[in-house]
Amino acid sequence: MISLLLLLELLPVVGALAIITSVYFKSLALKNVPGPSLTRFTKIPLLYQTIGLNRTRYIHELHRKYGPLVRLAPDEISINHPPSVGPLYNYERSHFYNAFEAFGAKNMFSTPDRAHHSVRRKHLGGEYTKVYMLRPENLSVIYDRVRQMIHTISDNSTVDVFYLFNYMAQDIISGFFFGNQYGSHLLQGQDTEVFHAWHMRRQTFHWFAELPNLTKLLYSSGIANFIPGWKEAAKGEQFINDMTRKWMDKCDPEKAHLLTKLMKETSLSRDEYSAEVMDHMGAGHETTGTTLTFLIDHLSKNPEQQQKLHQELLTVDLNDFAAVDKLPYLHGVVLETLRLYSSIPASEPRIVPSGGVTLLDKYTIPASTVISAQPYSMHRQEEYFERCLEFIPERWNEPPAKAKTAWMAFGKGTRGCIGQNIAMVSIKVAVGQLYKTFETRKPDVVPEKEDMDFKDYYMITPKADTCSVVFRMVGVDDGKKH
Ligand code: HEM
Repeated sequence: MISLLLLLELLPVVGALAIITSVYFKSLALKNVPGPSLTRFTKIPLLYQTIGLNRTRYIHELHRKYGPLVRLAPDEISINHPPSVGPLYNYERSHFYNAFEAFGAKNMFSTPDRAHHSVRRKHLGGEYTKVYMLRPENLSVIYDRVRQMIHTISDNSTVDVFYLFNYMAQDIISGFFFGNQYGSHLLQGQDTEVFHAWHMRRQTFHWFAELPNLTKLLYSSGIANFIPGWKEAAKGEQFINDMTRKWMDKCDPEKAHLLTKLMKETSLSRDEYSAEVMDHMGAGHETTGTTLTFLIDHLSKNPEQQQKLHQELLTVDLNDFAAVDKLPYLHGVVLETLRLYSSIPASEPRIVPSGGVTLLDKYTIPASTVISAQPYSMHRQEEYFERCLEFIPERWNEPPAKAKTAWMAFGKGTRGCIGQNIAMVSIKVAVGQLYKTFETRKPDVVPEKEDMDFKDYYMITPKADTCSVVFRMVGVDDGKKH
């Protein structure tokens, strides 16, 4: 009896010792990697910064202080050394990407599994190539929606371009998935609630990515209803799910593009199709919308660069996309925007495979460590981009090989962005039409709530989800040929 009581008495002490021993042994794994001491023992500092929407800037500051390799947690590191980064981006994705699941199913973005991923990528990859994108019937999806966007802007008007570009990008990607007349028509005022729903849904993104079990528990227990924004996030998710299904159901399978192809070539469940569609809708519109927003905000504050772009656009017929695509200044403006205002500036985590890896010739990193690089830091290195904080479109005329090594706006390796061609074509067509037709500037009195610093939800938006620009007509567009 006495020994049983003694055992019970000792139980907490044994438990505490077991925890301390486990924390101690875990802390040894990355002890030689530079970083704040606390990160040897706990992930709390990283979680605090991530959930506080400051992850990207926090990691950037750590790189400035500790160098190209930084410990973020007992089992997580960040690297900011371009020559080392390429090979790491063939490693598998981490649990972080589970947060992109939808309808309880995996999609191309979220799946870590190579086989599963390559099947999806094989069936959709061909439709996202540049050659496919440049077919007249596909280019016309983009030109149509860009024209609709331009026609909503009147001379001497102030426009919230954040809404405008997100609407346009959503309409373009859904045009590709469901066929030109199906899918969303936000620019025509239909289904615009979906835009707010995407934004409401974000509020719990980092919680699902970093603390999925706790987050699910908070929802299932009802506690989530009392946390500001969480009820709305769930409502946003439900709304997007309903809208995705609505678009899928009304689309004509004979005429639709990507959805039809996917359905003909695969036999997935309805939830899996829905998850794939929803993923492309999300990845496809926010990124392009944000890029265009920061681009126009920058040019509206830099009239000389804007004028140079306008002069260049006067030399081409905008209907000739091959000619537009070759314009060096336009190309440089787009790439500089993607470099300095990457719409995914955040870390893109992968898992070190069995056998581990040696980095920078001296750090032995064990298997299962989470490793990431972030475009925000990769793009701000003087050694790779001279005068790296300045917006210099000309740097892309003949970029040195070094700049290409550090370039990461569309990710890297086998899981790099599948939508980069559709994004580049949409952005170039939109910017071409806008700056051949209009001059833009910021309003004399910028709305008080506007803040063009970024909100760090992995994909970013301007802090107040708004960006006002004044348009003045200086030309006419090149008419409709597509
Ligand atoms: C300016 C626009 C865009 C930017 C900056 C961008 C950026 C990125 C980045 C950085 C990744 C890799 C993420 C990672 O490794 O964590 C990615 C992947 C992806 N992007 Fe984009 N993206 C853009 C537009 C689009 C568009 C228009 C689509 C349309 C479908 C799209 C669909 C995807 C998909 C499906 C993946 C996952 C690919 C895979 O895992 O194989 N993106 N994007």
